[in-house]
Amino acid sequence: MTTSNTENSPSSTPAPAAAPKSTPDAGPAPKALGTDRPYSPGLAGVIAAETAIGFVDGEKGQLLYRGYPIGQLVEKGTYGQVAELLWTGEWRKTARLVPAEIPEPVICVLRELPDHTHPMDALRTAVSVWGAWRRPHWPPTVDQARELTSFAPSALAAFHRLRNGLEPVKPNPKLSLAGGFLQQLTGKDPDPAAARALDAYFVVGAEHGLNASTFTCRVIISTRSDLASAVCGAIGCLKGPLHGGAPAEVVSQLHEIGSPERAEKWVREAIARGDKIMGFGHRVYRAYDPRAAALRKVAEGMADMAAWLDTAVKVEDVVLRIFGELKPDRVIKTNVEYYAAAVLQGVGLPPDLFPPTFALARMAGWSAHAIEQASADKLIRPDARYVGAPETEVPDFRH
Ligand code: ACO
Repeated sequence: MTTSNTENSPSSTPAPAAAPKSTPDAGPAPKALGTDRPYSPGLAGVIAAETAIGFVDGEKGQLLYRGYPIGQLVEKGTYGQVAELLWTGEWRKTARLVPAEIPEPVICVLRELPDHTHPMDALRTAVSVWGAWRRPHWPPTVDQARELTSFAPSALAAFHRLRNGLEPVKPNPKLSLAGGFLQQLTGKDPDPAAARALDAYFVVGAEHGLNASTFTCRVIISTRSDLASAVCGAIGCLKGPLHGGAPAEVVSQLHEIGSPERAEKWVREAIARGDKIMGFGHRVYRAYDPRAAALRKVAEGMADMAAWLDTAVKVEDVVLRIFGELKPDRVIKTNVEYYAAAVLQGVGLPPDLFPPTFALARMAGWSAHAIEQASADKLIRPDARYVGAPETEVPDFRH
């Protein structure tokens, strides 16, 4: 069987799997599927959708939502306005999202989860039960997106309280979504500055092109499945450590380094061991991640963060200098997670809530892509290149 690569293929074809031994009855090798077309492992470089929602330019370090630069959106907007922008394309002054009450079936299921449940699993389960309760039929709508995005922070906060032996509290509808999340976590109205900082984090995390979880969401919607199913899939995808797990590790890394004077030795030893320095490097950005720049500004405005930030900034300088020296051919800059860690820690979240809080922010982007994918109404169904056995007679053990 021919499995040779084509000229267009960006990478070589993997070796064929071990084939069953050919017998005299073996038929002709099947026509290899896909050998006449380029194969791109991991779909790298493949354009799989057209989108008007977000634009990422890794070379320039630019991120636009519907054409608006992320830095300006953080400065001038709220998550409610940004979510509405992503869903509808309109920038409306009055757009607002408020935390929703949790349907009773969701609370019942959250109560039954084992104590050791990972918060990401709890959020995925809550969205699944919300879907069973709400039955958001295909095609997804802006109303569905609004409801789900407003429900998710309340559900995550309820889970956090239940696992700590506390009863969930009702959301205060006067608060923003981020403020309501903090209020439902603690049972107290939040410090307005903390609520604003978390709102800014939500803006920064809302959308980032066709990343793995957004692609997952679009694939599920493309089968005309519903928004809750698509978002459950996206949460499962984001749970993988290669996608959504770095900010908690940034915190432990800075604790381990301890003081800026220890950074040089610590970083050099870590790189020599082949360890990854968390909060640095990105698959797409070859320039400073614009989200890191926006969150650094937010963190600088937060009370009680001065000492932590002083260390973080000095350590960042050391890391960037060492990368410049040791990896001159590879641009490795600070990524969003480095300063996301500062903001999430600054508003008082425990590290195991960092990944699901990222999911709360990304809810707006996932659902915007779900709506866009449904309007294209095209089933996403790529091909695989077959590298297995040729057609072979099944050995007859009947006699
Ligand atoms: N620390 C040490 N070395 C690094 C780092 C890092 N943070 N990032 C890249 N490198 C090195 C690699 O070791 C490799 O070196 P080599 O060529 O000598 O083998 C080279 O740079 C290329 O690295 P890749 O892993 O191939 O780069 P890629 O673009 O595929 O990886 C990734 C990007 C996974 C984000 C990587 O930079 C990393 O692991 N960073 C640390 C984890 C992190 O901060 N993740 C959050 C990313 S942002 C987000 O997901 C929202």
